[in-house]
Amino acid sequence: MYGLINMAIRQLVIDGHGAEGWQTVKNKASLNEDNFELLTVYDDAITYKLVKSASEVTGKTADEILHLFGMYWVGYASKAGYEPLLKLFGPNFKECLANLNRMHEHMGAMMPGLIPPEFEISKEVTDTEFEILYKSQRLGLSPMVSGLLEALAQRYGISDIKIEKIQDLDEASCRFKVKWS
Ligand code: HEM
Repeated sequence: MYGLINMAIRQLVIDGHGAEGWQTVKNKASLNEDNFELLTVYDDAITYKLVKSASEVTGKTADEILHLFGMYWVGYASKAGYEPLLKLFGPNFKECLANLNRMHEHMGAMMPGLIPPEFEISKEVTDTEFEILYKSQRLGLSPMVSGLLEALAQRYGISDIKIEKIQDLDEASCRFKVKWS
């Protein structure tokens, strides 16, 4: 994945556990890099290793780390210069959900090796209840998606969102139900 993702994981660890915490996570993951380059594509294995060692260091499960990371990512991306993109593609929560593919496509123009996930609002039950299809080429990242959706909802003042995985399509893709009042 692009270095931007690993940079954000690094910052999440530093925010919670300081530079020492990052050294421990980095050493456990047997990484030499102290930081990552934004526009370099790194092997996905590095990201998975970082999640695994962050889980060992904090005692949280890998799924909990991924969820936390998803929540952290929205604020991180906003501060890292992508706020205009979030605003452009997300005038409100529903449009933001509907535009996630377009937003990543836009990123893809600057990041040619990008392999983004695909999202689809597969069912609109009411104005405040949707089913969302998440399709990825990577395994096991759905807990990150629930964190992302929760943080995204918060951007629009929605604090009572319930996110439930209702169907696994395979190890990489699934369907969520999101509901708020
Ligand atoms: C402006 C904000 C955002 C930027 C700049 C951004 C950019 C990226 C980048 C660079 C990657 C790594 C993909 C690769 O290197 O191949 C990625 C992955 C991902 N993005 Fe975004 N993204 C943003 C917002 C979001 C939002 C709001 C969601 C979902 C609600 C989302 C869902 C994901 C997921 C789940 C992945 C992991 C890869 C996978 O599932 O296969 N992103 N994004």
